[in-house]
Amino acid sequence: MKGLVLSGGKGSRLRPLTYTRAKQLVPVANKPVLFYGIEALAAAGVRDIGIVVGDTRNEIRAAVGDGSQWDVTVTYIEQDAPSGLAHAVLISEPFLGDEPFVMYLGDNLLKKGITPFVEEFKRAKPAAQILLTRVPDPQMFGVAELADGKVLRLVEKPKEPKSDLALVGVYMFGPEIFESVKQITPSARNELEITEAIQHLIDRGCVVRPHLVDGWWKDTGKLDDMLEANRLILETFDRRVDGTVDAESRVEGKVVVEPGAQIVGSVVRGPVIIGANARVEQAYVGPFTSIMNDVEIRGSEIEHSIVLEGSVLSELSNRVIDSLIGRNVRIYRQPDKPSAYRFMLGDNSEVGIRW
Ligand code: TTP
Repeated sequence: MKGLVLSGGKGSRLRPLTYTRAKQLVPVANKPVLFYGIEALAAAGVRDIGIVVGDTRNEIRAAVGDGSQWDVTVTYIEQDAPSGLAHAVLISEPFLGDEPFVMYLGDNLLKKGITPFVEEFKRAKPAAQILLTRVPDPQMFGVAELADGKVLRLVEKPKEPKSDLALVGVYMFGPEIFESVKQITPSARNELEITEAIQHLIDRGCVVRPHLVDGWWKDTGKLDDMLEANRLILETFDRRVDGTVDAESRVEGKVVVEPGAQIVGSVVRGPVIIGANARVEQAYVGPFTSIMNDVEIRGSEIEHSIVLEGSVLSELSNRVIDSLIGRNVRIYRQPDKPSAYRFMLGDNSEVGIRW
């Protein structure tokens, strides 16, 4: 059994962060989202993993390396353009050969991993097995119609959904899939769609089995989902304080303070993670916040947010909430008049101001 992790793509819904960083490396609870997927594959006994990479290939290679940190072997597969999930399968045939494989979207997170899913596939040996979860808004997803324990039809973002079973970003395939990815043609958005390839399998008479997810699933491809994934992971943490907390500070609940981090005259209310060498001074860090390494929060309040490496929040008069702040960003109050907003923001940045 091999693994195929998709880590190319455009990442347009997470701009401007994705102009300078692969979306699969944006950290959730201070760990790149991609690492959770690799860990899930390793835990299911999948040791030979191909990673499909695009424009951000160098960054992904630098972060993942040869896979030895998870005791797996990683092969990089170059995709020249983000031409769709089925295109990623097509170009991976030389790596995958005749072996069955698990395809895992590199920006997806599953609470309980994929081990039962992989085991069921090994037992039943269908041509494909898809992972499904019930959603309140199926018109936003690829939706499956089932009958007699098999998948009958897959419809991408149906206007009138026949079920509430949405496709989750983990799939299992036998070698039959290659014939289908070669037969289909690009969709209206000019991608080879995996839903179409699976439908092609069904239409050829191959068995496609459904498997319902146990526990939550999150696609972290956009801001709100990223924050929710961060919340769900932080909730699973145990308290651990390896950094320093001075006598004037209060650190309450499930809080991880990494080595070298300093909490001075502040209140930190978990679940929260504070990265190595970060400094929180005369500040409030509220629930569901991940502060990465070398960040400074001074004279400011923040909650339900993610702050990446090296950024500084200083002397802000309002609390920062629901935010994803990139690397080396500086947000500070200017002492001089006139009182006004002063911005230098990258393309496609988003700033919400409430008062
Ligand atoms: P998506 O999130 O569907 O696509 P995207 O990365 O282009 O993002 P956006 O819609 O915001 O522009 O992709 C799911 C995963 O699959 C993600 O980790 C990127 C990866 N991917 C590839 O590796 N190759 C591809 O051709 C595509 C479309 C996605």
